[in-house]
Amino acid sequence: MAEIGKDIEKAKALLKKGKLVAIPTETVYGLAANATNADAVARIFEAKNRPSFDPLIVHVPDLQAVPRYADNLPMKALALATHFWPGPLTILFKKKEIIPDIVTSGLDTVGIRCPHHPLTQHLLSELTFPLAAPSANPFGYVSPTTPEHVNEQLGDKVAYILDGGPCTVGIESTIVGFVEDKATIFRLGGLSVEEIERVIGSVSIMLHSSSNPQAPGQLKSHYAPKKRVIIGNIKAALAGVSNDAVGVLSFQQDYHVHHQFILSPQGNLTEAAKNLFQALRSLDKMPVSTILTDLVPDEGLGRAINDRLRRAAAQDEA
Ligand code: TXA
Ligand code: MG
Repeated sequence: MAEIGKDIEKAKALLKKGKLVAIPTETVYGLAANATNADAVARIFEAKNRPSFDPLIVHVPDLQAVPRYADNLPMKALALATHFWPGPLTILFKKKEIIPDIVTSGLDTVGIRCPHHPLTQHLLSELTFPLAAPSANPFGYVSPTTPEHVNEQLGDKVAYILDGGPCTVGIESTIVGFVEDKATIFRLGGLSVEEIERVIGSVSIMLHSSSNPQAPGQLKSHYAPKKRVIIGNIKAALAGVSNDAVGVLSFQQDYHVHHQFILSPQGNLTEAAKNLFQALRSLDKMPVSTILTDLVPDEGLGRAINDRLRRAAAQDEA
């Protein structure tokens, strides 16, 4: 198990030596290493058992740092960063040489994000390099939203876990890329499409397809617990089974079954996003064979929640 603490000096020293440190962000915990050190970054892929074709996001303290790692910054990208950073938004830029190919899986774009968490902001502002950090979970599993989640799964692979408490957003950043000044969303996340469109006008959305070279990591089956997840009408499904054998993940409603997690009794999508991954982990540990769920309203953060639920329910195609 790794040490969990709030010691920024310790995190800094380890990162400088090329070690892995788990860091808190507002979205999910990241498994961080010096993004300019290819050997350190290789350790991230190894620890997560992550395929080398799935590129990493680079974390910076502020917008001013971006020109060191990327060029050709589109006007609309700058408008988004000015508006929403620090925050749950990753922007794909044309990468500069200083970012090693291993970070971007050989793509000529790099995903950059400025996270909104006081501890990690502090850490980033004192480092002389940016941090490559994917979510701190084994590849394909549910992302961690507490230090304990990280410790449970990667505790023996990480030098230190910086404790920033539970994540406030709870779902990964939204990823936006640009061709010229035309914006495309490649991953729905903690910043809603509506909020983005309010600043830069309409955007296209291009989600998962494992053969899409623009976003090789957007695999259909992802964020998946070990138990089988089924999306459908919970009430109807419960009628036909022994209630104790299934776990219910509901948005708002109480289904009065033994193994249940309600995302937001008040029906609040922000609260539901914050609880989603904890809910999947909890249900995964309960003595049930199947997790039954239904989709939440498909608006605002609800779209990102539904995206994660669908991926959790998707079976591997291979
Ligand atoms: O909220 C987040 O973004 C968290 C925290 C730790 O910052 N990080 C995160 O990283 O979710 P990860 O590695 O679990 O997901 C990053 C996704 C991957 O699916 C990857 O394919 C995509 O970002 N990505 C990264 N760089 C890309 C690029 N240059 N082009 C297309 N997709 C990219
Ligand atoms: Mg991830």
